[in-house]
Amino acid sequence: MSLQGKVAIVTGSSRGLGATMALELARRGAKVTVVYTSPRSESLAKEVVSKIKNFSNGSDGTIVQADQSKLDAGEKIVAATRAAFGDTIDILVNNAGVLFEKPLLETTPEDYASIFDVNVRGVLFITKAVVPYLRSPGRIINISSVGSRMGMENLALYAASKAGLEGMTRCLAAELGDAGHTVNSVQPGPTESDMLDDVPKDLVAMQKKMTPVGHRLGRPDDVAQVVAWLASEESRWVSGQAISTSGGFLMH
Ligand SMILES: NC(=O)c1ccc[n+]([C@@H]2O[C@H](COP(=O)([O-])OP(=O)(O)OC[C@H]3O[C@@H](n4cnc5c(N)ncnc54)[C@H](OP(=O)(O)O)[C@@H]3O)[C@@H](O)[C@H]2O)c1
Repeated sequence: MSLQGKVAIVTGSSRGLGATMALELARRGAKVTVVYTSPRSESLAKEVVSKIKNFSNGSDGTIVQADQSKLDAGEKIVAATRAAFGDTIDILVNNAGVLFEKPLLETTPEDYASIFDVNVRGVLFITKAVVPYLRSPGRIINISSVGSRMGMENLALYAASKAGLEGMTRCLAAELGDAGHTVNSVQPGPTESDMLDDVPKDLVAMQKKMTPVGHRLGRPDDVAQVVAWLASEESRWVSGQAISTSGGFLMH
């Protein structure tokens, strides 16, 4: 119950890694805003909130629909969070992201916008909307990828967006540290989710082979445990870091 009394926002928490993160924060006592974007995911987001309510441990959940590629997403998410839980926010997990896998010669300016608007611009402006309500010691956790540091064919745009996210993480850690907040990024390796289904099978097989711990794929809970620790008081002296949560696939 280390997060009792805390208010958290987890973007992209209707499914995949984000849903598991939202549940883990609530299991530790936090009140959580579950954010989804596609109409078909509304029922999934409601299911996450219903599981949270069933914990009956003082945690709570609320849902909001917002498209992170749109500039009003941050305001919408903050308004819903304030309406449900009041005017302070303690934890922001910028998890929503989109994958892109295409050769350079087929990549268009529209592709660039569709990836960067969600993975970079959206995160920056959601964070901007949250910071005025962030109670010290606030926690901002940005979900990057091992792809930010590795050279893999056809992933230039995705990798560039995640490397950009990590640069943003370090600069915001410098800027917000004075207010008592920490800002970190987490780099999952290949992890079981819908997104992984879109990664080429030969790449996933290579990644499993190169993963020292158990030569297996990551599970959403492997990542959620690290996110929950970063959200906790115990991580107070860690800021501006990119933490590889990949079973050793990516070693710094
Ligand atoms: N899975 C992996 O192997 C892996 C590896 C490294 C990094 N990551 C990173 O981990 C994060 C979560 O990945 P995942 O595998 O759980 O992905 P996922 O299964 O594809 O789920 C993506 C989540 O993001 C939301 N989302 C997508 N576009 C959005 C938008 N424009 N506005 C708001 N929300 C949006 C989706 O909402 P809807 O349900 O409404 O569509 C969904 O909740 C991503 O940042 C990803 O880059 C994943």
